[in-house]
Amino acid sequence: MSTSAILVLNGPNLSRLGKREPEVYGSRTLDDINRELAESFPGVAFDFCQSEDEGALIEKIFRTEDGGDCRGVVLNAGALTHYSIALRDAISAVKLPVVEVHLSNIYAREAFRRTSVISEVCLGVISGFGARSYHLGVRAILDRE
Ligand code: DQA
Repeated sequence: MSTSAILVLNGPNLSRLGKREPEVYGSRTLDDINRELAESFPGVAFDFCQSEDEGALIEKIFRTEDGGDCRGVVLNAGALTHYSIALRDAISAVKLPVVEVHLSNIYAREAFRRTSVISEVCLGVISGFGARSYHLGVRAILDRE
């Protein structure tokens, strides 16, 4: 099994978890979620990253691939999920396995959230399990090795 890191990458507005619509996204902060991941998978090295900026997320994906030390990416792209062809192209451009995750069930919400432009280029999608979506995303990367 690989000893390289799993990148947990979060997009716009996920820095506000805990305060942001807790009835939809839960009461845990992003730091809580990241800490729980590290505790649940003590043998895994994590690289945690969040940005409000599409370009920064794309650059992070490329830097991570170029670093050559990443076994997969758990990506919550936030609203970029629904419209960012640039992010989709970046995922297509790398060989890293990317698991798309969402706290909420995007298929049970507004119509505009039911489209993901990144799903097709991701390994799979985990949506609707709250903070557990991230755990399941990590599991999906580990189980395919
Ligand atoms: C989200 C769902 C998106 O529709 C939304 O824009 C987010 C969070 C989720 O985790 O449920 O920012 O990705």
